[in-house]
Amino acid sequence: MDIKEAKFLMSNTKVEECPAPDKPEYAFIGRSNVGKSSLINMLTGQKGLAKTSSSPGKTQLINHFLINNSWYLVDLPGYGYAKVSKESREKWRKMINYYFLKRENLTCVFVLIDSRHEPLKQDLEFTEYLGKMGVPFVIVFTKLDKQSALKTEANVSAFARKMSETWDELPLMFKTSAEKRIGKDEILDYIEEINVQ
Ligand code: GTP
Ligand code: MG
Repeated sequence: MDIKEAKFLMSNTKVEECPAPDKPEYAFIGRSNVGKSSLINMLTGQKGLAKTSSSPGKTQLINHFLINNSWYLVDLPGYGYAKVSKESREKWRKMINYYFLKRENLTCVFVLIDSRHEPLKQDLEFTEYLGKMGVPFVIVFTKLDKQSALKTEANVSAFARKMSETWDELPLMFKTSAEKRIGKDEILDYIEEINVQ
């Protein structure tokens, strides 16, 4: 699939005020600074569509984009930023939980994992949480260009191994780099595939 048109629609903290749930929705989430906004810009081919930043915690709201007039792409605020206050973290948890519970058109969540790291507890816990909530998800490893292919493979395998301690079946795993534009077609083709189902 090609993205011909990508439009920013709105930012929200309230699920009720999000666009009408009349189209399939795909949400992107992961630790702060993992590269969510950069990946969205890479997928849509629009550099400044989602705001990126080298300081973590830039995305604080639920951001809706309308793609090809037929599906929603959502940039969700990241988790795991150490400098965030306890209250903000709790606010984030409530907002995200409510979003996953109520957003009836949510089709798949893309959980972004930084491919530079060995498996992180926060990421593993987040996938477990999604499982408990019954939210369908896939994994997207980001920032492949930051290290050797060998190192990436080691980290990806270690993550898969850790996941298989709690999951019988592993989710799909994509490998990407927003910098080098790796993984774009794979993700867009996957979205197209589930869109027609
Ligand atoms: P928050 O919204 O703050 O949670 O961050 P985010 O997950 O949206 O990350 P963002 O896209 O803003 O990127 C964070 C930093 O990582 C920026 O400095 C990006 O330029 C950099 N970055 C993102 N993706 C890549 C990538 O594939 N390769 C490299 N080398 N850098 C990347
Ligand atoms: Mg962001």
